Amino acid sequence: MEIRYHDVVIVGAGLAGLRAAVELAGKHDVAVLSKLHPLRSHSGAAQGGVSAALGNAEEDSPLWHAYDTIKGSDYLADQYAVEVMCNDAPRAIIELEHLGVPFSRFDSGHIAQRPFGGHTRNFGEAPVRRTCYAADRTGHVCLHTLYEQALKQKVRFYDEFQVLDLCMSGDAVNGVVAVELKSRALVTFHARAVMFATGGYGKAWKTTSNAFANTGDGLGIVMRNGIPLEDMEFVQFHPTGLYQLGILITEAARGEGGILRNGSGERFMERYAPTIKDLAPRDIVSRSIYRELMEGRGAGPGKDHVLLDLTELSHEKIAEKLPEIESFAKIYLGVDPSESPIPVLPTCHYAMGGIPTDVNGRVTRDAGGTEVQGFWAAGEVACVSVHGANRLGSNSLLDLIVFGRRAGKDIAGFLKKSQGPLPLEADTSTRVRDLIDGLLGRNGGETVAEVRTALQRLMMDKVSVFRNEEGLAEAVRELRELRERAREVRVLDATMSFNSELLEAIELQYMVDYSATVAAAALKRRESRGAHSRDDYPRRDDENHLEHSLCFLEEDGSVTVSEKAVDLSLAASDPRFVPKERKY
Ligand code: FUM
Repeated sequence: MEIRYHDVVIVGAGLAGLRAAVELAGKHDVAVLSKLHPLRSHSGAAQGGVSAALGNAEEDSPLWHAYDTIKGSDYLADQYAVEVMCNDAPRAIIELEHLGVPFSRFDSGHIAQRPFGGHTRNFGEAPVRRTCYAADRTGHVCLHTLYEQALKQKVRFYDEFQVLDLCMSGDAVNGVVAVELKSRALVTFHARAVMFATGGYGKAWKTTSNAFANTGDGLGIVMRNGIPLEDMEFVQFHPTGLYQLGILITEAARGEGGILRNGSGERFMERYAPTIKDLAPRDIVSRSIYRELMEGRGAGPGKDHVLLDLTELSHEKIAEKLPEIESFAKIYLGVDPSESPIPVLPTCHYAMGGIPTDVNGRVTRDAGGTEVQGFWAAGEVACVSVHGANRLGSNSLLDLIVFGRRAGKDIAGFLKKSQGPLPLEADTSTRVRDLIDGLLGRNGGETVAEVRTALQRLMMDKVSVFRNEEGLAEAVRELRELRERAREVRVLDATMSFNSELLEAIELQYMVDYSATVAAAALKRRESRGAHSRDDYPRRDDENHLEHSLCFLEEDGSVTVSEKAVDLSLAASDPRFVPKERKY
């Protein structure tokens, strides 16, 4: 088998991976592996913007930003990590501007900023314009800019290489095993430092804003290597997915003045969040939408959706600030948003949990923060944790660029001290070969699509916005069965080149494994906090559950859930950060 060496191997070419690569390039030999062309990475789908207390529109401060982020997280975010992110945000935006990101501008020439859900001035007084943007294509332009910078600095890209395993030397990571999609050749990438920036995992749900590639590969791989996942029960549903499709309609539509209405035309968010209304955090808005539907106030013949009303915005404003969603509404639903409201429903959007890391992206393996030597993670695949139980809109792109850069810097520091790569074990690819041979050697069994559809239905029905003990217990049980079914799917395509059936079969195994952690952690958390809402335990319970969860995958496919302390360092000196009831 082919073995290649690079000082640093970064897996994933979204914003977190690219930002780390740009930090290291020119000084170290850096390779970026991606199962897609880098410009198809899901960061490019981020629409509405990236938050930073620049104060270009009105007074703002990183401390207010930190307060909103912690309150939005339902007090589960680690407070020091939030402080790091919010303090670094203004610098990070100016850096992006200097790298070439074409932000929208105010007439003054300053970077334009708009309101987004849960972002307020003066500790919750009223919405604040904190989100920097490039129309509704912010992720797209950031991705293009960082990719250009990485190319300019001669980062080595391996496009369409799908990583299937970590190489371990004892407890340390010293490489990855990947398959080249074009040839199906297995390649071991030997490295001194490995970083995962493999993104999120929304594809386990039927309705999602996530791209097809978001199958949680990084999570599946680390679990099989004994590394836990943190806070997996917290899965965000974005309030405004296009009805029946789940395609994202940016929160910026409400930031620019759009209003959610029920079937009677009522602005129902006034009842649920009287101070900031449609700009409440996503967990609250998504639940409010479902309450309207459950109480018979939905829109349309089936009363099964609500309406996002942009008709008060002018044609010109929509064309200038929201061109992407205007075209989505027209193309997919035949609705011109300046003339009729857009039918919407919540859609699975973002994973707050992931691979546990410290604020420098170092992966940790237990509640005590023991590092996994040679291994970093950043972006949606990681859990720093800055989003706790619920992420605020536009804090995601910020997380990617702040912690991608910090991981890059930390890797550079590590390389200065490290002697050389740890030697590879003799059998790096055995497990991957067995996996592939097992799948290709089978004649009978279900198709990948059959098992994946069953998984997506199960997660949508029982591990969704509203949860309860019975449904979650059933989900845990059914996921054990799905694990077996996923291992026994048939793969009829034996070709060597771009064998997507084989790769989807492998992805399905990851999907089932991380879904099992979501269900197990959700079953254990007998409270409602942020995006985790239990009908049977409707209140937050700080006495018993103000703690992160850590999920370990056992050999037999069961999941063990343990706890990890939440960092409350800001609360120790400032009573405003002490957990309290969230009111908006
Ligand atoms: O609504 C949006 O534009 C999404 C942004 C985000 O998830 O941060």
